[in-house]
Amino acid sequence: MGNIILTGDRPTGRLHIGHYVGSLKNRVRMQNEGDYDKMFVFIADAQALTDNFDNPEKVRENIKEVALDYLAVGLDPNKCTMFIQSMIPELTELTFYYMNLVTVARLHRNPTVKAEIEQKGFEESIPAGFFTYPVSQAADITGFKANLVPVGDDQLPMIEQAREIVRKFNNIYGETLVEPEAVLPSDEKCYRLVGIDGNAKMSKSLGNCIYLSDSEEEIKKKIFSMYTDPNHIKIEDPGKIEGNVVFTYLDVFCKEDSFEKFLPEYKNLDELKAHYQKGGLGDMKIKKFLNSIIQEELRPIRERREELAKDIDAVYDILRKGSIEARKEVVRTLNEVKRAMKINYFE
Ligand code: TRP
Repeated sequence: MGNIILTGDRPTGRLHIGHYVGSLKNRVRMQNEGDYDKMFVFIADAQALTDNFDNPEKVRENIKEVALDYLAVGLDPNKCTMFIQSMIPELTELTFYYMNLVTVARLHRNPTVKAEIEQKGFEESIPAGFFTYPVSQAADITGFKANLVPVGDDQLPMIEQAREIVRKFNNIYGETLVEPEAVLPSDEKCYRLVGIDGNAKMSKSLGNCIYLSDSEEEIKKKIFSMYTDPNHIKIEDPGKIEGNVVFTYLDVFCKEDSFEKFLPEYKNLDELKAHYQKGGLGDMKIKKFLNSIIQEELRPIRERREELAKDIDAVYDILRKGSIEARKEVVRTLNEVKRAMKINYFE
């Protein structure tokens, strides 16, 4: 059987360039390479509600935003099925059966959940829905028998937990489910993009993101406020590359022809870095260069997004049709699961 690709995002905010280099680009590449039988990209609203249950408006609003981001970066409804998680109730049913295959201790050990519990300050009052979302995520993946899951590296513990559930299920009930595999970007520098303030993570709550939908002005303002080397005060001062966000981003976004186009007095990034380290190269110049590169990359995405946003009904239509299509897959898997579990009484 050919590849089945599946991935998704929580609709808790617009998508940013961390999502873009960490996963979205990879998905579009896989979609366009076409080495798959089926590809699904979905908006995980039920998962988003596990820690936003008191803010349903936010989740609802961001379904639209994430869908626009998907389409704007080049995910194509003719090549991949886009859907909304809660439109497929069978996923919830699968989740309930998988709950039996996971211990509370194992969920506590999930590093991503652990970090989120700390970050959200849940302490002892963790909502059960939130605590068990890795099980629901396993249902998302296995419901489609997906074998390839393009995600950011923060999702690796989720994939690992899904694999364990699959093995346990197949062991007890017989070979039914497919073990998924995470697909990370080929370039490790893209795994996790730092925030514009130098924080290890780009995140909405930290206010250090560049969004795919940001205007040209917003992007420029953000790039010019980027954290560089606080000891590089005068242009003549030697500057540090390590931890300097402008160089971190240049490492990720610089293309072969970027110098020729925007900074022809340098041959390549090594030469630029060497000059900065030696002294005599100002922050303004490197920021201007980075700004040109990022603007070039984001302009077509933003323009497509603005175009798409004019007809939101068409976007909802894609999600509605996709949800109907996608549901058929999970219905089929659920039937197999119930047969394997011997709860197919009237068959
Ligand atoms: N956990 C992912 C996120 O934080 C969203 C998600 C839910 C997902 N189910 C998934 C990703 C299944 C890949 C596969 O955005």
